[in-house]
This record gives sequence, C-alpha cells and structure tokens, in this order.
Amino acid sequence: MYAYFDNAATTPLDPEVLDAMLPFLSQHYGNPSSLHGPGRQVRAAIENARKTVAHLLNAAPAEISFTSGGTEADNYAAFGSIRTLGLRHAVTSPLEHHAVLHPLQVLAKAGEIELHYLRHDAQGALDLDHLEELLAKLPRAFVSLMQANNEIGNLNDIEAIGAICARHDAVFHTDTVQTMGHYRHDVQRLQTHFLVGSAHKFHGPKGVGFLYTRSGTRVASLIHGGAQERNVRSGTENVYGIVGLAKALEIALRDLAAHQAHVLGLKQRFIARLRAEVEDVQFNGLSADPARSLYTVLSVSLPPSAITEMLLFNLDIGKVAASGGSACSSGAQAGSHVLEALGGDPERATVRFSMSKMNTEAEVDFAVETLARLYQRVLS
Ligand SMILES: Cc1ncc(COP(=O)(O)O)c(C=O)c1O
Repeated sequence: MYAYFDNAATTPLDPEVLDAMLPFLSQHYGNPSSLHGPGRQVRAAIENARKTVAHLLNAAPAEISFTSGGTEADNYAAFGSIRTLGLRHAVTSPLEHHAVLHPLQVLAKAGEIELHYLRHDAQGALDLDHLEELLAKLPRAFVSLMQANNEIGNLNDIEAIGAICARHDAVFHTDTVQTMGHYRHDVQRLQTHFLVGSAHKFHGPKGVGFLYTRSGTRVASLIHGGAQERNVRSGTENVYGIVGLAKALEIALRDLAAHQAHVLGLKQRFIARLRAEVEDVQFNGLSADPARSLYTVLSVSLPPSAITEMLLFNLDIGKVAASGGSACSSGAQAGSHVLEALGGDPERATVRFSMSKMNTEAEVDFAVETLARLYQRVLS
C-alpha cells in the first residue's frame, strides 16, 4: 500500500476528467482564436467550460477568466485591481498563502500601498473587530483573506468578511483555492469582488485555474499580447486544461455531499486513532474542530523527538505521503510562516495529512500505524 495524504498540495486526476480532456489532446488541435472550423470547435469548448464554471458559481460567463492556476489568479486580483483602481491600502493576514502575501509585499516594498496585517489568536482565528477598525480608518482598501488555510485548515467566515468589506467600500478578494470544489460558492450571496480556483486541487489537471471578477470591477492585464480572455490574460489558451477544469468542478459539485461525508469520516478516524496511539499528539490551529476547519486537512503536532527532522522522509520510506513544516526554518523540514505566526513550539514536528475522495479508511489506519511505529521506536 502507498497512502497518499498530500491532497492539499495536489490531487490525483479523476479518470472522468481525463476522458473529457483526451479529445483536445488527440483530435481537436485548432487555435481557439482562428476563425476556421477547427478553431471554432475549440473556441466553443472553452466557452462551454466558462459557462459551466459560471453556472456552478451562480456567476455570469464574462466574470470568469482562465489562468495558469491559483497563484496567477491571486496575482491578478492583487496587482490588477490595486493598480487599476489606484488603491493605497491593503489588508491581509500573516496566515495567507505566499501567492497572496508576496504580491502584496512587492507592492508595499515599491511604495504603491501600505500593507496592514489583521490580528489573529493562537489558533489562527481572525479578529474581525480589528478588520472593522482598520477599514473604518482607511480609505477604500484592498482586502485579501482566504476562505481556508492550506496548512492548518482553518475556515474563515467569508460571508461575514464580505459584509464588513461592503460596509466600508473595500475591494474584497478571497483565496478559495482550498475550498473550490469542496464547498459550494454562490457569488450572488458572497460580497466578494474576486474568487479563485485551481483545478489540480479538485482532481483536475495542473497548471490551470480561474479568476472570478465581479462584473463592474476593473482589473489591469498582467500579460500583454493577443488579448485572449477578454484582454485580461493574453496567450493561446490551455484548452485541454480548461476543459478538464470545468469537468473536474462539475464532478466535484455533483458528488459533493457524498464526498464531504466520506472525507470528514476519514478525518475523524485519523483524529481518534492518533489520539489513541500517539503520545502527546496535538492539532494545530482549528484543525481538529470539524465546524471551523476544512474537512480535507488535518495538521498534526507531534512531540519533540530524535526523528523530528526526518519525519516526512521516514513516512515516505514507510509508504505514506504527507507534508509538514515547523515554526522555524532550519533543518530538513521547510519552515512554515503560518506555524511561526501561531507561535508554536519550534521543537515540535508538524505533519499535514490532507485527504480526498480517493482515500480509504484502510489508508488512514496504515498511516496512523506507520507514524505510531516510528514514534514508538524512538521513544522506547
Ligand atoms: C491557499 C492557496 N492559494 C494558492 C495556491 C496556489 O495555487 P496553484 O498551485 O494553482 O498556483 C495554493 C496551492 O497550494 C493554495 O493552497
């Protein structure tokens, strides 16, 4: 058995998605910008994919632009709107993904914006009173707060954040990379100007994503050329990727209830078995709280031991794929700015198990037993 529990990094491609993509690799080769038959056929596939994504989000097709993934969509939202609208302030949190933090830090370093960080508690719950306070003082700001954290799984209430932003006329972008395809999104209810998706996080192909931009919100293009994607993003489209993304989102939302129940069951099994079998196990952030965390992510904190540094390597040898981090940036495990911001003990090791519909209870048992064996060996 090889237990793959790194689905927050990427998910395996769904065979149904591959079937939908294959004709666009083998038969339909036209350039979607060409006016002849082969081109028009491919153009129609892209526009159908756009309609599918828009319909699933209760958006209009013109509000969906395809990108190379979540990172690019986050960059568009930040650079595109801050520069076009001439915004001078941005609010984010230290717990955001680098795809949000780094563009904002680049803009701040260049003196284009002043960057404000929202307060959070030791479990990573955001202080929304602080958001209200900040927005009351700042002229129209760009606010970027993710719906779910990719490392610790914390869910943020983007409906409440959207309402605060609306009260203060802020432009609200939310990084929904970890929730797209795992929860439903209705843009008519969410007061957000931007949402993003990345196909490889919901069993679609890598290197393709999308940006939802609320109608009436202007964004500048970052890539200039042939004016594809309504001039937001020039370049010949990733046709099979776009077709695969739409199919993957359709499947994810079609089967959502069953998969949510299955994956949440796996997560609860993980928590119960880890508590029973690994001494002094803890969970980072709100990871073990089913109401306030992603059902796909479990961030496990393990006591200091001789194998801390080599934990992921040892798990891999034991045929368990997971990812990790620590509060410091030394050693074999990469440091995590999220765990560091939470102020965790840098001597403890973190392993993130992230699950998908393709995992089984037997794989959970296998992963827990592998981890428990590793610890017993070093602690005895
Ligand atoms: C929260 C979050 N935002 C953005 C990204 C980047 O997405 P992509 O890999 O499609 O560029 C990721 C991927 O790990 C993510 O987890």
